[in-house]
Parts: sequence; C-alpha cells; structure tokens
Amino acid sequence: MRLHWWMAFAVVAAACANAASPTFNKDIAPILYKNCASCHRPGEVAPFSLLTYSDAKRYAPTIADATSKHIMPPWKASPGFGEFADVRALSAEQIATISAWAKNGAPEGDTKDLPAAPKFTDGWALGPPDMIVEMPDTYQVPADGYDIYKCFVIRTDFPEDTPIASVEVRPGNRRVLHHTVIYTDPAHAARARAGDSGSYTCYGGPGITAIQTDLMAGWAPGMNVKRMPDGVAFVAPKGSDLIVQNHYHPSGRPESDKTTIGIYFQKTPVVKRIFGIPMVQPNLRIPAGESHQRVTATFTTPIELELSGIAPHMHLLGREMKITATLPDGDVKPLIWIKDWDFNWQLGYEFKESLALPAQTRFDLEAFYDNSAANPKNPSNPPKAVAWGEATTDEMCAAMLICVSPRASDRLTSWMSLAQQLLAGPAGRRFRSGAPDKNPNH
Ligand code: HEC
Repeated sequence: MRLHWWMAFAVVAAACANAASPTFNKDIAPILYKNCASCHRPGEVAPFSLLTYSDAKRYAPTIADATSKHIMPPWKASPGFGEFADVRALSAEQIATISAWAKNGAPEGDTKDLPAAPKFTDGWALGPPDMIVEMPDTYQVPADGYDIYKCFVIRTDFPEDTPIASVEVRPGNRRVLHHTVIYTDPAHAARARAGDSGSYTCYGGPGITAIQTDLMAGWAPGMNVKRMPDGVAFVAPKGSDLIVQNHYHPSGRPESDKTTIGIYFQKTPVVKRIFGIPMVQPNLRIPAGESHQRVTATFTTPIELELSGIAPHMHLLGREMKITATLPDGDVKPLIWIKDWDFNWQLGYEFKESLALPAQTRFDLEAFYDNSAANPKNPSNPPKAVAWGEATTDEMCAAMLICVSPRASDRLTSWMSLAQQLLAGPAGRRFRSGAPDKNPNH
C-alpha cells in the first residue's frame, strides 16, 4: 500500500495535537499526585495545595516556571551522575508536558480521565513503633522572622547498644517544620550544652563536636519511611541521648511544635551496621566578593567500604558540589553532582544499589562557593571573608559517606585514618607549623 503524503500529515498532526494539548485530568493530575501532593496538600509544608483542578489552574504559570527551572520538586542530584533510589525529579518529558499545558491556558479535560486522588496515612507508616520519644517541651514558633535552627535533647539514655531498623519522624506541626536531623550523643555533650532548657540554637549540625556523635536519621517533607532489611541496623550506643535538630520556617502566624519520633528496633541479629564517614575541608577560606571559590576535600579509605548513600552539606554560599570515587585500578565512579545547591533542601541520597569499593579507593569532593554581593543568598551584605564555622554566616564543606559494614570496628578505623589524612595534608601542616595560610581550600 502506498502511503499518501496526506496520511502521513494526518498522523503527524494527530500526534502533535495530542502532545501539544495536555489536560489536567489526563496528563497533569497524575504528575501532581505522584510528585507534588506529598507536600502540596492541606496542613503540609508547601504554601499551597495542588490536589484539585482549580488549585492547579491558579498556579499553572508558576508551576511551569518552578518545574522548568528544576526548583520543584526539590531534588538536587543531577541526572546521569550517580544512581539513586526514590528519585523525585521530573523527566524532561513531564516538564515539557506541564509547560505545554500551562501555555495552552491550563485546560481541564475530560473528568473520566482523572485518576483517583492519592491517599495519605495519618498514623505511623510502619505500624506501632517499639519506642516513642518526643521533644522535651512544646516549641513556640513566631509568626514571622528568620528561619530557626534548634537542637532539642531527648534523654533516651539507651540502657544498652540498641540496633535500630527505622526511625519515623512525625512532625508536631507540618506547616513550620522544614526538616529534622537526629544524632546520637553517647558523650552527653548536648545535654551539657542545653542545660535546663533542654535545647539550644544550632545551625547546619548538632552544635557539639564530640567524636562519638553520629548521624542516626533525617526527615524532610515528602520522604518515604523505610525499614532496613533484616540484619542491617544503625546501632545507637549504650547511654546515648538523641539530639533532634529542627529547622523551622515561620508560616505567617504563631505556631507551636512538639515533634514525636517513633523508633523501630532491629530484631534480627545484626550482620551489618550503618555508619557515616564525614569528608570535610575544615580549612576553607572564601574571600569577600569571590564569586566562584573552589574548595576541595579528599579521603582515601584504608579498608573496603560498602557505600549505601551520601549526604552533601554546605551553608548558604555553596553553589555546587561534585563527589567521585576513584578505585585503585583507576576506574572513576560518579557519586553525586549538585549544580544548584539549596540550603533549604539538603537531602540525604540513597544509592539505587550500594557500591562495593575496595581499600585504597579515593573519594574526591569539589565544591564552589559564591561570596559576591550579587548572590541573593549571601547572608552578609556587604560580603565578608568566610571560614569554617557553625553560624549562618560561616560556611562548611562536607559530605557524609553513608556505609554499611559487617565489622563494628570499621567506623573507628576509617575515622582514625580520616583524622590522620587531614593532619598529614596541607591543612594539618599549616596547623602544626603555625605558618600563614597561603593556599587554603584543599
Ligand atoms: C518535599 C516537599 C515538596 C514537594 C515534593 C514539592 N514541593 Fe513545591 N514547594 C514546597 C515548599 C516547602 C515550597 C515553598 C518554597 C520553599 O520553601 O522552597 C514550595 C513551593 C512551590 C512553588 C512556588 C515556587 C515559587 O517560585 O514561588 C511551586 C510552583 C511549587 N512548589 C510547585 C511544585 C510542583 C509542581 C511539585 C511537583 C512536581 C512540587 N512543588 C513538589 C515543597 C514541595
């Protein structure tokens, strides 16, 4: 059969018409339900709901703008560099569909195309926890002002080393709680710092430097709660308190929060433990006005590692961070590349499959910072020279390498090696000699 030119034309025209006029019910609702509704629904962290056609239509141009600029949904890992579980980013095709829909006047389409609205549980996602703890007091969040970073000490004082399979955070107030990071503190350093008040202001970390402190869990809106497989656990050391670091974002009216944490014990014998290795560049210096300051960090592991995730960390001036692992045979594995760092959305990223890395694998971290007056996120105006520190106006350059290992000793072995490498490197030599810092940042 001969294909008439007009037949081909009709086919192409039909395909274009289909692609060019997406509707809410058929094309947009499935995207919003799956990728946005976990945060954009009543009582959640996002400032408006995106569950109905009228909600979505009202915000159509902003939605098209925020998705095409990759501001929403919050997911900072660049595609193609590291492979992650639970990827939240939209595909290029989904972004194009949203843009086309908004450009066409955001049509509703046929109601029979509308999928069922998503269901959300109000209770514990993993069922009743083995242990429930909560913030010592209700915290009052003022109606407006700057974001608040606060560490609350929960005196859990675990009676023995306690293997934990999962931690579920239930925010007391989802309108203001932006994220939570939970640390274990066997040294009771946070208890000492908090005193009677039970809390203190901290930014970007637990606000204490005890080497025993470890990252236990984190929570951000829209996150899936998961249980570790049998035999895998984070072991909270005997005597540990929990430090709960909360980031609050004022909502426009006075709010209060008392967040609850459900802990699920690992009941099968522990064959692998989770621990973090913090790659850092404590020697960083970012001159005032510098718009593209490069900072690097490196760590060579003395032992084989199974890497299950990674959590980059910078403050407000950070723009970019890229981390690779170079195996002893020269093979380079991409781990993560964040090209538009946003302090508000510092997530932990779990690899789709954990990476087995032999001893002598070298991790390299390269970051860039913008300390110019043109950076709208710069907390200092005019810009001032910035170094490592805890405050909002200081910076950090770090990434937690999240590992699992059958050997309980691996955490200490890798941390000792990390400390030796830092002291033996340029930062350590200057530290020992007291010589002026001619070449910081690596
Ligand atoms: C993890 C929670 C979360 C998810 C998932 C999420 N958002 Fe948001 N969204 C927020 C929060 C919080 C804000 C308020 C701004 C901020 O704090 O970054 C926001 C703001 C926005 C804005 C306003 C941005 C502006 O420039 O004013 C738009 C539009 C938006 N989201 C659309 C979406 C769409 C579309 C999706 C899904 C494809 C989505 N969001 C997924 C939490 C989320």
